[in-house]
Amino acid sequence: MSIVREKVTIIGSGNWGSVIAKIIGNNVRKYPAVFQESVNMYVFEELVQGKKLTEIINETQENVKYLPNVKLPSNIYAEPDLLKSVKDSSLLIFVLPHQFIDGTLKTLKGNIKSDAKAISLIKGVDVRKGGLDLISHVISRELEVDTSVLMGANIASEIAKEEFSESTLGYKNKDNAELFKLLLETPYFKISTINDIAGVELCGALKNVVAIAAGICDGLNAGQNTKAAVIRIGLMEMKKFARLFYDGVRDETFFESCGIADLIATCQGGRNRKIAEAHAFTGKSFAELEETMLNGQKLQGTLTAMEVHQILEKKDLVDQFPLFNSVYEVVFKDVKCSQLLHKL
Ligand SMILES: NC(=O)c1ccc[n+]([C@@H]2O[C@H](COP(=O)([O-])OP(=O)(O)OC[C@H]3O[C@@H](n4cnc5c(N)ncnc54)[C@H](O)[C@@H]3O)[C@@H](O)[C@H]2O)c1
Repeated sequence: MSIVREKVTIIGSGNWGSVIAKIIGNNVRKYPAVFQESVNMYVFEELVQGKKLTEIINETQENVKYLPNVKLPSNIYAEPDLLKSVKDSSLLIFVLPHQFIDGTLKTLKGNIKSDAKAISLIKGVDVRKGGLDLISHVISRELEVDTSVLMGANIASEIAKEEFSESTLGYKNKDNAELFKLLLETPYFKISTINDIAGVELCGALKNVVAIAAGICDGLNAGQNTKAAVIRIGLMEMKKFARLFYDGVRDETFFESCGIADLIATCQGGRNRKIAEAHAFTGKSFAELEETMLNGQKLQGTLTAMEVHQILEKKDLVDQFPLFNSVYEVVFKDVKCSQLLHKL
């Protein structure tokens, strides 16, 4: 009797996507009875110094644009054609900036294996239909697949260097969660599982908004007490927001890596904090700073701040979330950074 082994495709190849490719490429080789060795990575094609990025990755095993100086395992194959990349795949790893998920799902709809399972590493929310939706729910609905989520204090550049960190896998189907844990866990990247997709995913999305407030504190040279207060208020707003929109969000989730740990990491390091600090220093717009400081990487916190604001405005709840609202006003309404602290 032949045993069908799982074929993996990573959909996305930015900074985090490339680090995850490194982990997956090594892990599938550790468990040859479970996973096929060859792993596809969908790469949004672009030219880097006149040459196609996919060709560079396949020739050098290095994503020179989004994860320079880190070798990817030789079983990672960069594929610019999204449909070709998912052909015959049973495990789909979604790791794109959340602004690109719509177009990606449109292409994939009806074109994936019927028994495929997905996991989303995407930090953000979906508000297309006027209400709040989780990206993992959108993936599940559009592709008719079970979708788990993985979020945590996981700044990609540190995990690329194999520095110890933890992550949280939120699931509905426990067997699928165990499979993804096998695929993604390493001695330096420890994964815990919890049956709370909404809690895990909303922590991952909302902490980027709090990180902007933390960056503003740094840019204003605010003291440690002030920054700690901002982080604490941010955590309370994250919890309140999650509870407001989803029943069953668990208290423990906020004490997992996806909760307090990711919040601390993102408010100390990470691109949202960095750009917000630069905004407070220079007064330049977030869009301009994203363009000039991130070399093609995308900010997620600004978009999430806008989406959260839309939802709260619709429900007439803006006043109950002063930190989320202040971040929105600083980013999109030209309100002075110093106002953020006054409003709290
Ligand atoms: N970088 C991190 O430390 C980190 C850690 C955890 C989670 N995440 C999350 O992972 C997700 C992916 O982030 P990242 O850091 O891998 O990406 P990134 O910001 O480093 O890179 C941007 C990616 O978007 C792609 N892209 C650009 N235009 C596109 C288009 N039109 N269609 C499709 N793709 C396009 C680029 O090719 C590139 O792969 C985000 O939701 C992020 O919040 C990131």
